[in-house]
Formats: sequence, C-alpha cells, structure tokens
Amino acid sequence: TLPPGRYENTTIDLTAAPGLGALKVSTLKTAPIDGQKPGTSGLRKKTAVFTEGKYLHNFVQATFDALRSTGADLECQTLLIGGDGRYYNDVAINIITKIALANGVRRVWVAKDGLASTPAVSALIREGGPQWKKVFGAFILTASHNPGGPNEDFGIKYNCENGGPAPEKLTNAIYKNTTTITSIKMCAECPDVDPSVLGETVIEARDGSRRVSVEVVDGVAAHVDLLRTVFDLGAIKALLDRPDFSICFDAMHGVTGPYAKALFCDVLGQPASCLINAVPKDDFGGHHADPNLTYAVDLTKKMGVDRLGQPVGSSQGVPSLGAASDGDGDRNMILGTQFFVTPSDSLAILAAHADCIPFFAAQGGIKAVARSMPTSGAVDRVAQAKNLALFETPTGWKFFGNLMDSKALFGGTDYTPFLCGEESFGTGSDHVREKDGLWAVLAWLQILAAHNAPGKPLVTVESIVKDHWATYGRNYYCRYDYEGVDKPKAQAMFAAMTSATSSNTGRVVQGSKIATADVFEYLDPVDGSISKNQGIRFLMEDGSRVIFRLSGTAGSGATVRMYIEKYVPPTGALHEVCANVVGDLVKAALELSSLVKFTGMESPTVIT
Ligand code: G6P
Ligand code: ZN
Repeated sequence: TLPPGRYENTTIDLTAAPGLGALKVSTLKTAPIDGQKPGTSGLRKKTAVFTEGKYLHNFVQATFDALRSTGADLECQTLLIGGDGRYYNDVAINIITKIALANGVRRVWVAKDGLASTPAVSALIREGGPQWKKVFGAFILTASHNPGGPNEDFGIKYNCENGGPAPEKLTNAIYKNTTTITSIKMCAECPDVDPSVLGETVIEARDGSRRVSVEVVDGVAAHVDLLRTVFDLGAIKALLDRPDFSICFDAMHGVTGPYAKALFCDVLGQPASCLINAVPKDDFGGHHADPNLTYAVDLTKKMGVDRLGQPVGSSQGVPSLGAASDGDGDRNMILGTQFFVTPSDSLAILAAHADCIPFFAAQGGIKAVARSMPTSGAVDRVAQAKNLALFETPTGWKFFGNLMDSKALFGGTDYTPFLCGEESFGTGSDHVREKDGLWAVLAWLQILAAHNAPGKPLVTVESIVKDHWATYGRNYYCRYDYEGVDKPKAQAMFAAMTSATSSNTGRVVQGSKIATADVFEYLDPVDGSISKNQGIRFLMEDGSRVIFRLSGTAGSGATVRMYIEKYVPPTGALHEVCANVVGDLVKAALELSSLVKFTGMESPTVIT
C-alpha cells in the first residue's frame, strides 16, 4: 500500500512500454573503476572522468549498496538531489534519479533547476517534509570551490539523514563496494524530469505494482526560511538601511546567487547592485569559485585590498562589509572597508559575540566551539575566557557534525548550541550540519547591528576586529598552498618529516624552539573512531605553530598546505603586516620540510 500523501500535478503513464514500463529495472553490467575513494568532502575528479562510461553510475550504485547494508529505509523515505550547477549537473541528476528508483527509492526530491547549496541541502534534509517525506539522505553534485566545466572538475558527495556529510565508516563502505561492483540497477526507460518546473511527477508502473514520485522542490526558500529563524532580520535590515552602511556580496557565479538575491534583495530590501557575479554559471565564469584573497578578485578590488589583505587605493565609496561564497555556498570570506578578516579570527569573533545572535541567545548562549587542527588558536582564547567546551578536530566538517549530534554520548551533557569553523573559510553552527556561507555573512551583520545604535557613528568591521585583538591578543596567521605538486614527491616530503618528528623535538630553527613535533591523530569522543595522519605539527615553545597537511580536496595532483601561526598578546604589536611577523616562521617551515627540494616549487601558488 502507498503511504498517504499528495500525488498531484502530473502522472506519467508509459503504457507504450512493456511490463513495468517506466519503472522497469534494467541491470547494467559493469566492472570496478579505480580511484573512487571519497576525499575530505566527497569524490572529485576531472569532469571527463565522471562522464566516461559508468563512472558516476558505479559510485551511485555503490552508495545504495552501502546504505542498504546499514539498514537505511530507502522505500519509505525521500532522497534529495541537488548541486552547485556546474557542468554535467543536469545529466547527473537524471542518472542518479533513475538508479535511485531502481534501487527501491520511492520518492526523489530534485532541487529546482538542479541548484541547491550545500547548507541548503543540509537544511532540506533536516527539515524534511510531512512525516512520510522524511529525507534519508542526499547526493550533492559539487566539487565545491574547484573550477567547473567540461575540462575542469565535477564531484559528488553523499549526506546522511542528520544533514551532514557521510561519516568515514560509510564512505569507506562505499569505496569498498566500488572495488567489487559488477552490476548497476537502473530504471533506464524512465523519462527525465524537468527540474525547472516546481511540483511533483508521479510515475506508475504499467502493471500497477509500483508508484514513485519525483518532486522538484525549492531549495532557496527552505534555506532562507531557516535563516529567518536564526537571525533578527529586522535589526539587520535597519543596519543595511543606514546611509553610512553598504554591503557587497560576491556569489562568484556559484550556487549562492539566487539565495543572496532572495535574502538581501527580496527579504532585506537592498538594491540588486549589492550583488556581484550572482548568476550561476556552469563553469563559474571560468574562475575558481573560491572566496579567498587570490580568487575573489572582483570583491577584493571593490573592497580595496590586495592579495595579502592590505589596503590599496582610497577608501572612498568602498562598502562597509564585503563577503563572498564558493561554488556550493558553504564557504565565506568576510571583509570590512579595506580590511580582511582571517577565517580563524572570524570564528573567534563570532564566538566572542555569539550572544548577539538570537538563535544562540534563545538557548542560553553557545556552550561549545570547535575548530579544525590547522585553524588558529584565536577561538581557544575566547573559549577559555567564556568557559566554553573546545574541540580540536581534523580538517573536514563531518567531524563537527558528530560532536553536535552527540548529546547523549557525553554522559547527558548537551553541548549545543555549537559554533565551529575552519581556516579554509568555513564557519557555521548547529542550525545545519554543514558550514554555511550566508549564515556567516548574516552572523557578521547581526553583530554589527548590535554594535550600531541608530544615530551614532558607525562601528566598523575593522574596529570590531581590533577591539577583539586588544582583548584577546592576535594570532597572526597565514597559509601557503602549493598546488599541482607531483603526488609521489609530496608523499616523500611527508614521509621524511614524519620520520624526523622525534629528532626535531627540542631543535631550534630560525629562532624558534620546537616544543613538540608530531603527527596529529584524532580520537573521536563520540564514536571512538581514530583518524590518523591528520597533518604534521611543529608546536613552538612560544606558542607559535607550523603545520603541514596534504589537501584532501585536490582534484588532481597533490596540494601541500603549510600553515603558519604566531600569537602576540594584547600588550604586543597588534597592527603589523602579517607577512612581516611570520617571516621567520615561514623560513623555519621551509627548512623543516625541505619543501623546495622535494617539490621543486620555489613559491606557493596561493597565500591566504
Ligand atoms: C572542504 C571541507 C572542509 C575542509 C576543506 C579543506 O571545504 O568541507 O571541511 O576544511 O575542504 O580541505 P583540504 O583537505 O583541501 O584542506
Ligand atoms: Zn564548498
């Protein structure tokens, strides 16, 4: 019997097709394809890899096989599919839909126009629909900030019913299945559903034995509605309406354009001119849709900062707040007038002022903060001052999700509301289980609104950051990326550093004494799982840190990340140029790693 519900709009009856018609399950022969191990955030490869043969089919079938073995209820619940709009998004949505239906999924939600930001997917999963429409998981078609297009990257990741990325246990099971797969189930004769039209299409088997539904849902409205409950948009509107305040949001031709339009223009009444690059493009306009000082050039130009975040030109006409999001809308960069806020500082400042945000205030204030290991220790000082629980996790948002969902496992201690962030331009809270670019922008606006009484001179982003440093001290921080490194060379460099960890302890390099050198390993306090090899750390006696990691999101080749941090207390020099302060540590890092020798790269490709 069918679950109760609405089966409206269209009913497709393929009476011409034999037997089960549109719902006939074809079994396609296949063979394992190498390299389907998901990285930090899903499977990302060159688009041509995905479009060839059954690459995508294999991964999707392997996911259903893994889900079935965990006892997921595919038949009575809903699967959501959406993506960041990059090239191949539309084709992939139809392939996944047909494999899903053949694997017993009864209801598929497709995001309108195929577009759903990563945080919106998380919101949609968590919100679900009327009881029988509970969403058990989602495929998000994204390679995040990696460039898109036929010659660039495509990606897919699976999120679970808590709205967060699949835990390693599941991604390992998926990967294992990809190494043994022999067949794919697919309703190959099922018609494509047009994702540009909202509403439900019911597809019936010709013999009446089965009835499924594919519904196009509005991902934008779901997310905006959630954000309305988290913030006081009235206060934010009053700030935005001040004659001395203006905002510029750069969607970088990624998925957030329609979200930003709905939020800033339709809800908050701002002119369309406050948005740039707000029309999604399947190649992100040929750019890296990555909100940082190197790639978000349209925004940095507008905000009057150079590639190192230093002011350039005049401040005349520069907006009060500038922000950008990445391809799939989970990352954010925040700028004030001619002023760059590092993601690590942004996290610390949001933690310090969390009470300004109604979502937190209503629950008695935040109780816990979490940061990834390479993220600076700025937030640690806020946690200490405010007596918040602090977690240091490996890189990857999924580790935060585990902590947020852990209530009962901490002996009844409820750590929500929860705030987390990463140096990689990710910030968010337990309103969803992904980082959330627009959330971060609204969080900054809410804090600014709280500091700006009507009729008083404007309290700026820069002054909020500087006040923070004056209270807590400043963690000077930068990250060097070496992209496109030959993988074996990068691995050799890490192997050499790993074997030298104990002999490096106590050594003095470029004036810094190494207190500890180790390989970061994480014991998840919730599920007891251990994540090894999460980066090499050199912790200096004065609290400075030098960290090396291999990126888990590089589409091809290896990306070496080198993270440098130096803490200066409130009594120290707080307004220096970062590059000058960390210069010796950079030299130390290059010496400790022999990076130039191993990789042949004289200088980084990106500095953030
Ligand atoms: C994605 C993940 C983040 C992670 C980031 C950096 O954006 O969602 O959680 O911090 O990638 O990953 P990488 O391994 O490239 O440094
Ligand atoms: Zn992203």
